[in-house]
Amino acid sequence: MQEKNDKDISQVLEWFADTGVHDIASDCNVAQKNAKTEINTLAELKEVMKKVDISIKACALNMVFGVGNEHADILLLGEAPGAEEDRQGIPFVGQSGQLLDKILAAVGLDRTKVYITNILPWRPPGNRTPTLQEITLFRPYVIKHISLVNPKVVVCLGGTASKALLRTTQSMTQLRGKWARIEELSASILPTFHPAYLLRSPSQKREAWIDFLTVKNRMQA
Ligand code: URA
Repeated sequence: MQEKNDKDISQVLEWFADTGVHDIASDCNVAQKNAKTEINTLAELKEVMKKVDISIKACALNMVFGVGNEHADILLLGEAPGAEEDRQGIPFVGQSGQLLDKILAAVGLDRTKVYITNILPWRPPGNRTPTLQEITLFRPYVIKHISLVNPKVVVCLGGTASKALLRTTQSMTQLRGKWARIEELSASILPTFHPAYLLRSPSQKREAWIDFLTVKNRMQA
């Protein structure tokens, strides 16, 4: 087990090296160890995450954890809370969330049938994109979060979630609609467009709908 932890940590460190980031290694070590060894329930994970030392927390109103069916076969992974999510402490309740609900409804799903969470549990100031440092710090908790729900499929909503989970720099054009896997999870992973992007580029909604249908069909197979 320790050997496996060490291997995971060194993979993360290699990833830092690839990206030129070196100064967060010790924070990440702590996150890796916290997330891997001591947490057995979503409630415990939430408590541990509340204590993570990260500056964006100071600007946020609420921590936004996860919501929905804790035994769902489908987990939706977003980027980070926006203003409305920050106010309510619930993921995807703003404009993007309303579109997400419509997409789910279009394939016969709703929030009682899926679990929804984000890469970051706090809103980055001004809705900026999460930094590599923030993503790297939270990735072990995201992996733990997904493992505790234990879905069959993870749908990554948008580039930030997709690249963070798959640890890739590939573009959404390359990733979208293609099944992927990572060593740390048993679930299959499908990157699709973020609802906020679909609000800006409605012509892409069809692709997102196809992706959700693909997920739905996989569940029924
Ligand atoms: N965008 C996200 O990525 N997550 C949310 O919870 C809301 C908007």
